[in-house]
Amino acid sequence: MAYPATRMRRLRQTPVLRDMVQENTLSMDDLIYPIFIEEEVDAPAPISSLPGIMRHPEKDIAKVVKEAEELGIRAIILFGVSHHKDTSGSDSFKKDGLLARMIEKSKDAAPDMCIIADNCFCEYTDHGHCGIPSDDGVDNDRTLENLVKQSLVCVEAGADMLAPSGMMDGTIAAMREGLEEHNYGNMPIMAYASKMASSFYGPFRAAAGCELKGDRKQYQMNPANGREAIREALLDEAEGADILMVKPGMPYLDVLRDLRDYTQLPLAAYQVSGEYAMIKFAAEAGALDEEKVMMESLLAFKRAGASLILSYFAPQVAKLLREK
Ligand code: PBG
Repeated sequence: MAYPATRMRRLRQTPVLRDMVQENTLSMDDLIYPIFIEEEVDAPAPISSLPGIMRHPEKDIAKVVKEAEELGIRAIILFGVSHHKDTSGSDSFKKDGLLARMIEKSKDAAPDMCIIADNCFCEYTDHGHCGIPSDDGVDNDRTLENLVKQSLVCVEAGADMLAPSGMMDGTIAAMREGLEEHNYGNMPIMAYASKMASSFYGPFRAAAGCELKGDRKQYQMNPANGREAIREALLDEAEGADILMVKPGMPYLDVLRDLRDYTQLPLAAYQVSGEYAMIKFAAEAGALDEEKVMMESLLAFKRAGASLILSYFAPQVAKLLREK
């Protein structure tokens, strides 16, 4: 039925009517906050390319995690800034390495917080790649062996969820097998399933002190490929992933939306460092209303089908929702 029988403006007339028919909402249950922790330093260091985000010294981790919890943040993902890098990223699979310590200390500080491990090597390798280097980029299967070791270390340190982000083939299958063998069959895995070789990660690499030369095109996906992104994600589901992530977020909302129709698993979107920086710097320049654009950008992920959003805006959203 067309106009005048249908008038779309009828349900837009008052705030209560608009709220009653709102299809999607954002709550703190949806957000995962990425936190950067640096070892062997004394003071927090602001990250110039990510306004408002710090590298926190390891000694402050309990304080940082508790503050997040008090704001209403329910899940965090931890990124280490390592001073012990080597060719395989071995610090990340040592029981007393930075990754294990970050998990232990956050779990101690906030037992109810969902502590997510970013399972990768690039923050711990001296070449910056996401695994053991080889003639053709990264050695897939040897990297998986280390990834299984790293996963077990994270579980034993108290992680509530593992999130492998290295884009090696067979990642989820290898982790699932390793976890089952050690009776950790109940450990949830959120797969960075469709992760693009994206230039939107620029500020993150500065934040994490990643010294990558070259690029990751031999393992991360070509940003031009939407159908391949679905294949990647469905492979991770078949291998035993519990949550599928699309990354970056806003430039790949089409992938998220398409994937929503192919799987019944919960989906996550990563609003990456470059997306956050774009909004922050545009707001600083007076071009955008920061809070409104922040909320609109996050709601867009919900509308496209995400249950979870990783975002550097999490503390700001928490404060905003609390005021309401
Ligand atoms: C590590 C990792 C990256 C990000 C999250 N985990 C960097 C990369 O793949 O180069 C990017 C996050 C962001 O840009 O906010 N593999």
